[in-house]
Amino acid sequence: MKNTQHLSRRSFLRQARNLSLGMGAVLAGPNIFLNETRAATGENPSELVRVGFIATGGRGVQNMGYFLKKKNVAAVCDVDATNLANGQKAVVKAQGKEVPAYRDYRKLLEDKSVDAVVISTPDHWHALQAIHACQAGKDVYCEKPLTLFIEEGKAMVKAVRQYKRVLQTGSQQRSDQRFRTAVEMVRSGKIGKLHTVKVGITTVNWDNKLDDVKDSDPPPELDYDMWLGPAPYRPYNRARVHYFFRFFWDYSGGQMTNWGAHHLDIAHWGMDVDHTGPVEITGQARYDEKKRFEVPVWSLIHYKYPNGVQVILEQGAKMGTTFIGDKGVIYVNRGVLKMGATEKEEDLDDIPPMKDADIKLVYISNDHYGNWLECIKTRKDPICSVEIGHRTATACHLGNIAARTGKKITWDPVKEVITDPSLAHWATKEYRPPWKLPV
Ligand SMILES: NC(=O)c1ccc[n+]([C@@H]2O[C@H](COP(=O)([O-])OP(=O)(O)OC[C@H]3O[C@@H](n4cnc5c(N)ncnc54)[C@H](O)[C@@H]3O)[C@@H](O)[C@H]2O)c1
Repeated sequence: MKNTQHLSRRSFLRQARNLSLGMGAVLAGPNIFLNETRAATGENPSELVRVGFIATGGRGVQNMGYFLKKKNVAAVCDVDATNLANGQKAVVKAQGKEVPAYRDYRKLLEDKSVDAVVISTPDHWHALQAIHACQAGKDVYCEKPLTLFIEEGKAMVKAVRQYKRVLQTGSQQRSDQRFRTAVEMVRSGKIGKLHTVKVGITTVNWDNKLDDVKDSDPPPELDYDMWLGPAPYRPYNRARVHYFFRFFWDYSGGQMTNWGAHHLDIAHWGMDVDHTGPVEITGQARYDEKKRFEVPVWSLIHYKYPNGVQVILEQGAKMGTTFIGDKGVIYVNRGVLKMGATEKEEDLDDIPPMKDADIKLVYISNDHYGNWLECIKTRKDPICSVEIGHRTATACHLGNIAARTGKKITWDPVKEVITDPSLAHWATKEYRPPWKLPV
């Protein structure tokens, strides 16, 4: 902070805005992609890709909206007949006729009229369905968080590379100008030497109406066994299934993975650690006193990265990512990009996001789905490749492991193992037979 104390806020911002000048010299490093995946032809690449939707629940239908406009939804699938019917209804409305509708995603994967799939199931299904899609020769858009546990991510990376598939992780903040500008400014030294990143994520948004919901028979429209899939068997309970699965360890990692897959992902991008990960993680957490759900209502995680930068993630703190360097601060969240001399609210001023032409320091995508479709055509890696999604999810899982065990976790980001053998089992989970993680 020393240097900025002598700068007025106005001159500090003026300096920041001059960022676009002379950036060419800063281009360096293994993670830099120039604008090479841009379609040069101007034709709409999506017309060539027939997309199947695995899950048409909350996010599934949202994701479908983009593809419906281009009329390239080729099939839908959901284990809940009501949600499946909703998906089909949206297809008929936008595309004028029905598409094949499946209850079992393996049938959709056998469908030769489907080139690629969008997976918007709960987290405990992501890895298995993505790997099976790769094996079936389909390209994949997989919702974040990419995984439920670390070993799944390793298997996903292997499958995507083995079957030469294009996988986009659904961390769509990577395709937003504000987040990219923040990352480019940090990486180009506009806040001096980066030493700390603060990540704020939300607390649990439980619905009190679910407090007293008892176990019951599953409703007739739901194939509950296929909803559970690889997760341990337990009787159906409405409060653990649609949307609220997020707050139970068998299906999700809570807000740590739900929102960490967005804001910790941006921290990784800014720190240029997409190819590595934290080396030391400590954490603490508080849980729901009434034990209505399992994941923390508050947590505080400290990460140390190999480049010496520390990340402090707090559940319940201001949402977004704050990069703190020895010459200034950048704060970014959805719709907000600010810069200033200190992280105090009154010291931070809005700054405009940069257009593509201004600076070319990182991979540029302004359309997360479009980038995936374009890469399906070019066979290049999308902006949020399987490795990136896996490394971000890994950091989220390590945060949860530190908080849940109360122990300091040491992580070898090269071998991708928890170095203390007595804690290593936290990187994996058993699948319920007959489901098996291909490794
Ligand atoms: N990128 C984002 O901003 C964003 C936003 C919201 C949700 N998400 C992610 O999307 C995923 C789904 O979240 P949601 O809120 O839509 O949940 P949801 O419960 O509303 O929908 C999940 C759907 O998956 C279906 N499903 C479950 N198992 C299935 C199977 N084996 N085959 C086919 N369908 C199956 C369910 O019946 C349900 O319709 C989560 O991983 C979440 O993190 C991402």
